[in-house]
Amino acid sequence: MTTTPPASAVVGVIWAQTTSGVIGAEGTMPWHVPEDLAYFKQVTHGCPMIMGRRTWESLPEAYRPLPGRTNIVVTSNTERAVELGAQGALTAESLEEAVATAAAHTQSSSAVWIMGGGSIYAEALEKNLARVASITQLDLQVEGDTYAPELDPEQWQLISSAPEQGWQQSESGIGYRFETYARR
Ligand SMILES: NC(=O)c1ccc[n+]([C@@H]2O[C@H](COP(=O)([O-])OP(=O)(O)OC[C@H]3O[C@@H](n4cnc5c(N)ncnc54)[C@H](OP(=O)(O)O)[C@@H]3O)[C@@H](O)[C@H]2O)c1
Repeated sequence: MTTTPPASAVVGVIWAQTTSGVIGAEGTMPWHVPEDLAYFKQVTHGCPMIMGRRTWESLPEAYRPLPGRTNIVVTSNTERAVELGAQGALTAESLEEAVATAAAHTQSSSAVWIMGGGSIYAEALEKNLARVASITQLDLQVEGDTYAPELDPEQWQLISSAPEQGWQQSESGIGYRFETYARR
């Protein structure tokens, strides 16, 4: 099924993945790359953020809701939705409802970012909800239980990479590269 997001909102997905596509393990990200956290903050600041309930729970309490951004949490659990509301999140019962809510909170120049986790990314790509993908590639091999969906090269075009080739070196010792893709 294809769903068209509201014309006013540019919707993107944003994630960090290892070379084998791992994005999470046991409810968290099994790495610490402060440069990527800084980049995430820079890219998403001021933008509505959409996340699944488990990704919300993966955020440190001190950082949720993510400051300076409207936080929208997707959950099917109405009792949990009330708790999330009390914690400062907006809630939605579906990803489409979350995108509509986000669009209503978007200034014309800002994007809406879908920030995970695995189930939400997969649904967003399957339903063609995103036009941009901001992917941090990590030069890392690590076990995980949650994976990024593949960006089909027939549908997604790499439009920038920093650096163009190779890796920047994190203070943590992990190589990383910021890639941006646009839907063809
Ligand atoms: N590397 C990265 O950039 C990155 C980014 C984000 C997250 N992560 C990692 O990803 C993992 C979490 O991902 P996940 O796939 O397990 O969980 P998730 O996608 O964050 O959340 C799943 C939950 O969201 C709700 N949900 C999802 N789709 C829904 C729909 N269509 N309608 C209603 N509710 C829906 C459900 O909540 P209810 O059960 O309450 O109904 C579901 O249990 C963690 O390890 C996290 O650290 C990594």
